[in-house]
Amino acid sequence: MNPIKVGLLGLGVVGGGTWKVLARNAEEIARRAGRRIEVSRIAVRDVAKARLRVGNDVALSNDPYEVVRDPAIDIVVELIGGTDTARELVLEAIAQGKHVVTANKALLAKHGNEIFAAASARGVMVAFEAAVAGGVPIIKAIREGLTANRIEWVAGIINGTTNFILSEMRSRGLPFDQVLAEAQRLGYAEADPTFDIEGVDAAHKLTLLASLAFGVPVQFDKAHIEGISTLAQEDIAHAERLGYRIKLLGITRRRSDGIELRVHPALVPAQVLLANVEGAMNAVLVRGDAVGPTLYYGQGAGEEPTASAVVADLVDVTRLHTADPGHRVPHLAFQPDAMSDTPILPIEDTHTSFYLRLRVEDRPGVLADIARILADAGISIGSMIQQPSADEDGADIIFLTHLAIERNVARAIASIEALPFVRSSVTRLRMETLV
Ligand code: NDP
Ligand code: HSE
Repeated sequence: MNPIKVGLLGLGVVGGGTWKVLARNAEEIARRAGRRIEVSRIAVRDVAKARLRVGNDVALSNDPYEVVRDPAIDIVVELIGGTDTARELVLEAIAQGKHVVTANKALLAKHGNEIFAAASARGVMVAFEAAVAGGVPIIKAIREGLTANRIEWVAGIINGTTNFILSEMRSRGLPFDQVLAEAQRLGYAEADPTFDIEGVDAAHKLTLLASLAFGVPVQFDKAHIEGISTLAQEDIAHAERLGYRIKLLGITRRRSDGIELRVHPALVPAQVLLANVEGAMNAVLVRGDAVGPTLYYGQGAGEEPTASAVVADLVDVTRLHTADPGHRVPHLAFQPDAMSDTPILPIEDTHTSFYLRLRVEDRPGVLADIARILADAGISIGSMIQQPSADEDGADIIFLTHLAIERNVARAIASIEALPFVRSSVTRLRMETLV
């Protein structure tokens, strides 16, 4: 059989890795796919630089539209990143009747509904395994492997840069800025690292996971997003002493009244597996009603790990290329006409336990007054520690609460901060037991 023809847009970290893996494992991949997968055209900005990398056997262009509109191309692989040009190119590829493979989570989180609708109408596939957790086949697992289940929740470490930063801050006591620079040097961080450290990249990925898990449209604008840039070293140390680790988690949970969709740092018990995922590694925990908890772990970024997912998608598309579109796995796991409008819940409705830290004047009645405010807000204290603070007659207090409703905690914090003997704002972190 003739090779299937691929047009590659971008030959950077992921594009370069895809080129390499396809070349190195060509025989093995063809045995799986049923035919050879051949990159016949590549678009980049700097053609001369790319020529050095790929040699003379492939056509190079600095006009990605030439590739997308080439009638000989069967599959367009979008690996340029960004959301504007990438959106136009992907929609144009679909309009030309080509299948698309992309690693671009920002694109799909923002324009996924439009892109999947266009692809369904045109009868082509848009595959995006590399967009979530890089080389970890989490999309395949949720979309196909767990298809018997009513999925209850998904919780993941889905940004390698922030996990690397948190791991280094905890284990080596290094400051945030120094570790971020190291993550950028190692190539984990996005072009704009604020997407990583402010939780936006994780929220892009979580939004896609929520759609796959619960069959709801992609709703990035409804995700609650907090990053790690304001996280204090002292809270990482306190958490450690209390038997927890702080991780940037993406959590999406099905509740009777809607779906939680949130990214934020959280205390996780040190003995659970997710707490021990260190460095730039990713891990996603999925709980299904039939299977119970399942865990997926691996490299969430980098040249070849991400290429592993891109090539897996290329093989899938090659195998299903000639299948009736109605017999293919739906883009978001559920049939397009069976998507649900279950609402995404506001963060104020979230139920979690909390870590609260504040500095107070150390005198009689202080604890009693704070405990009264918490009790009046329906918040039960699980444990508490107090230690002398650096300033005179002061004490630092940490409360760990039982499950509480976020809006009640916010109200209680406002009342506590207004007390005359409270000397700091209240640091509030959520806690997740992941059971
Ligand atoms: P890079 O910046 O390394 O590479 C981008 C490539 O796209 C370059 O080859 C660049 O060309 C080319 N390019 C950019 N704009 C254009 C354009 N207008 N026309 C033609 N070519 C263009 O990005 P990555 O490989 O890191 O990321 C690609 C995508 O993969 C992103 O969506 C990213 O979020 C996603 N991703 C990345 C991961 C990673 O580990 N890096 C992991 C998972 C997903 P030139 O080289 O000439 O400048
Ligand atoms: N910047 C991302 C990360 C790359 O740190 O996980 C993979 O999406």
